[in-house]
Amino acid sequence: MTIWNLGSINIDHFYRLPHLPRPGETLAAESYSVGLGGKGANQSVAAARAGARVRHIGGVGPEDWALERLRGYGVDCAHVERCKVATGHAIINVDRAGENAIVLFAGANRGFGLEGVAAALKEAVPGDTLLLQNETAHQTEAAQMARAKGMRVVYSAAPFEVEAVRAVLPHITLLALNAVEAEQLSAALGTGLDRLLVPQILVTRGSEGAEWNDLAGGERLMQPSFPVQAVDTTGAGDTFAGYFAAGRDSGLPPGEALRLAAAAAALKVTRAGTAEAIPSRAEVDAFLAERAR
Ligand code: RIB
Repeated sequence: MTIWNLGSINIDHFYRLPHLPRPGETLAAESYSVGLGGKGANQSVAAARAGARVRHIGGVGPEDWALERLRGYGVDCAHVERCKVATGHAIINVDRAGENAIVLFAGANRGFGLEGVAAALKEAVPGDTLLLQNETAHQTEAAQMARAKGMRVVYSAAPFEVEAVRAVLPHITLLALNAVEAEQLSAALGTGLDRLLVPQILVTRGSEGAEWNDLAGGERLMQPSFPVQAVDTTGAGDTFAGYFAAGRDSGLPPGEALRLAAAAAALKVTRAGTAEAIPSRAEVDAFLAERAR
C-alpha cells in the first residue's frame, strides 16, 4: 500500500550550544549546520527508509534543494506545490545533553491550497495510510477525505495546538503524542486519554519507552526504549511515527512495529540532525539483530 503524508518541509538550521538560551541571554554557538527537516519531511523520510512507498503532499518555496533531498530518499514529491513564499524553516538550538528548543517559520507549509491536497488524495485507495502533523494547513479536511476513502489516518499532535487537535480527532485512526503533548491534551480536554473517542493512541516517552493503546479493541502494549547515548533528540518522535506507520503498512503486528520504531528512534538520537540522521532499514535491522543475541 502507499503512505501519503500531508506534511511540512523545513530547512533546519542547527546551533549547538553549551545550554539552551535563557530569556535576555546572548549565546555563542559552538557549531552550525543546515539540513532537511520539518515534522512532515522527517516522517516521510523515516517511512521511506523503513521500506514504504511514500508520497508527500505539501509546499516549498522557489528553492530546490529541500525537495531534491526529499526525493533523494525515495519520497514521491509530485504533489508538493511550488509556492511564492519561502520554504519553511526552523531554528533548532541543541544543548550538550542533546535536548532542543525550536522556533518555526511556516512559510510555504501554509502557502498551498486545498485543491492540491484533494487532487493528491484522489489517487489514494482504501487501505492506504495518511500521515498528518500540525505544521501545514488543511489537516482536518484531508483527514475527512481520507477516512471517507477507507484510509488509515495517523495524526501527530505536534506542535501541540488544542484547537487543531480537537478539530481533527473525530476523523483519525491513530493519535500520536509525546509525553508533554499527552499531558497538554488531557489538561485541555479535562479527561484522561483513555476516554478519547479515537480508535488508537500512541504515546512516546523518550527514554521511558512508548505505549500503544487500542481503545477500540482493548489491547495495550508497552515498548521499552533501547538505551543509547543521546547526541540529539530532534526528530526522534518523527522517526518513531514514520517507522511505526511503515511497519503497520507492511502488515507488521503492532508489537513488532513498535519495536522497529523504537530501534529506529534510538539510532536517530545517537546522530546529530533530523532527516539526514534517520537510519536506514538495514541499520535498524542490524541494531535489532545485535540486541536479540
Ligand atoms: O520534530 C523535529 C522537527 O520539528 C524539525 O525537523 C523542525 O523542522 C521542526 O519541524
